[in-house]
Amino acid sequence: MTNPPLFPGLVLGIETSCDETSAAIVEGRHVRSNIISSQAGLHEKWGGVVPEAAARAHVEAILPVIEEALDAANARLDEIAAIAVTNRPGLVGALSVGLTAGKALAYARGVPLVGVHHLEGHLLSILAVVDGFRADVEFPHLALIVSGGHTEIILVDEGLQYTVIGQTIDDAAGEAFDKSARLLGLGYPGGRAIEVAARGGDSARYPLPRALLDDPYNFSFSGLKTAVLRLVEREGERLDVADAAASVQEAITGILAAKSLAAAEITECRTVTLVGGVAANAALRARLEDGCYRRGLQFVCPPVALCTDNAAMIALAGSCRLALGQRDTWELDASSLADLAHP
Ligand code: KG4
Ligand code: ZN
Repeated sequence: MTNPPLFPGLVLGIETSCDETSAAIVEGRHVRSNIISSQAGLHEKWGGVVPEAAARAHVEAILPVIEEALDAANARLDEIAAIAVTNRPGLVGALSVGLTAGKALAYARGVPLVGVHHLEGHLLSILAVVDGFRADVEFPHLALIVSGGHTEIILVDEGLQYTVIGQTIDDAAGEAFDKSARLLGLGYPGGRAIEVAARGGDSARYPLPRALLDDPYNFSFSGLKTAVLRLVEREGERLDVADAAASVQEAITGILAAKSLAAAEITECRTVTLVGGVAANAALRARLEDGCYRRGLQFVCPPVALCTDNAAMIALAGSCRLALGQRDTWELDASSLADLAHP
């Protein structure tokens, strides 16, 4: 089967789970606008997201971002047929800002409201039709979801049920990038900084560990962090940052690609998708694409703007949930934890 059904009419998506304030409007699979206001500059000085500061910045940004999304989509608020908002998992204070805005707008306009699991948003970002991107993805398929908080290999079936095939037992892949970047003095957020620093670097210069673990589909990145720390201490001034960044990128992307491809084989999936913030990494995209090509598998990865946190993916996931008949009440809560097996 190909794509799940979507809600007819314009859906406004709202995302405030971490440090991006985003609003988007989708019509079916078409992304009519996707506005993202990043707080990265705000949190840079602390080297990570400060929850209280994030929530306050969302309060300032949320209404202008929603207005901008309406303008960019050439739509009026009274044309919005439903509202989808991330309510889990994430920073509760940050989530509450988007959730409150979503509830207020849905109540005022008398349209349905649906709470969206952030990871389901990432997983369904592949449904988007935007800027020349359009993929007809087979269901069930295998997804590698890699973000700042998650690293999971997930089987996605046509009824939007999710089975976790493998996951990290400690740090997420994005965290491994961010922590390594900090140790290499490359700043925050670290994933993009490592990718840029790695250009022209020799990825074989500093061999770094790739924990294979007993379980063939689980990941562990805490040993990598320790190895990078030791490397920095050992090399001191001599450290070639480009080579070190390339070596870190090689270690992380190598293990991610190898285990995902092994999981595709065992689950007999013909399609592999790559989603989440770390999917913005060109080396990872190229590596997984090449591995899929060699095995005759379809490879799908959305454009970069839909990999890192954004509301278009939330609107798309919400649209699928609405089409399945899901509606939430004003009791809908924000939550820091959520089980993807029961989104
Ligand atoms: O999905 P996302 O935007 O937020 C979460 O849901 O966590 O993912 C953020 C993560 C961060 O750890 C960031 O360093 C990483 O994605 N990231 C990257 C790149 N761009 C963002 N990692 C590697 N290469 C990139 N180009
Ligand atoms: Zn995310």
